[in-house]
Amino acid sequence: MATISNTLFIGKVLIKLETVDSTNDYSKRLLSNSKPVEGTAIIAYQQHQGRGQYGNEWLSEPGSNLTFSIILYPSFLHANQQFGLTQAVALGIVDTLQDILDESIFIKWPNDIYCKGKKIAGILIENTLIGNQVGDSIIGIGLNVNQQDFSKLPQASSLSILAGKKMDIDILLQALLTQLEKRYLQLRSGQVVILDNDYKENLYRLNEKHWYKAAGEPFEGTIVGYDSYGRLLVQKDNVVLAFSNKEIEFL
Ligand code: BTN
Repeated sequence: MATISNTLFIGKVLIKLETVDSTNDYSKRLLSNSKPVEGTAIIAYQQHQGRGQYGNEWLSEPGSNLTFSIILYPSFLHANQQFGLTQAVALGIVDTLQDILDESIFIKWPNDIYCKGKKIAGILIENTLIGNQVGDSIIGIGLNVNQQDFSKLPQASSLSILAGKKMDIDILLQALLTQLEKRYLQLRSGQVVILDNDYKENLYRLNEKHWYKAAGEPFEGTIVGYDSYGRLLVQKDNVVLAFSNKEIEFL
């Protein structure tokens, strides 16, 4: 365990692991038998059962990328405000990458991070509710940093490929922890308008006509925003439809 960083609490306690199944699962185990200090971060050189969204696996070349989780206690969030956390985390990543890359960074709703049509980071947030409030939250982040070979993942790329140079993973982690804390503090202090505006500003395909698939049917529509639950609002002909996570596919 190491104590580093110039943040107030995120990553102040940093648990560095050589190999683990998944840093999210490690965090879950930690939470089940202790009360880790808020902001505890767990980072792994290698995950052998890295998890992505929708039960997918998260593949990441050992030592080349960032795979880590952060434990938070956002008890100020009502169950129906969980999307706020998604926004804050996605923006923390966008802020960091925008400082490094000369390209535009997009958030593909709800929380995939894209650059030049390729996915460079993914987020897996696992919240536990206590009554109607969020009790604890495990924020899992996978950021492709120095990996060069994506022959098994043709939709993915890395920072290094996009920037044309190798990155220092430790410096990048510090930058990320700083920006994530900044955005989390915005959320905690109720600055949701700022988060909303910034999230929308980086939202992939906003106000553009594209093809989607819902209930097995392809259709042409325009993303016009999202509602307070974080459901994606897509205008199809003259109606605006709301979709939750698994209900819509980007074509
Ligand atoms: C996705 O885009 O599908 C989400 C990917 C999340 C991957 C990260 S890597 C660190 C943490 N541990 C996991 O098992 N998953 C998340």
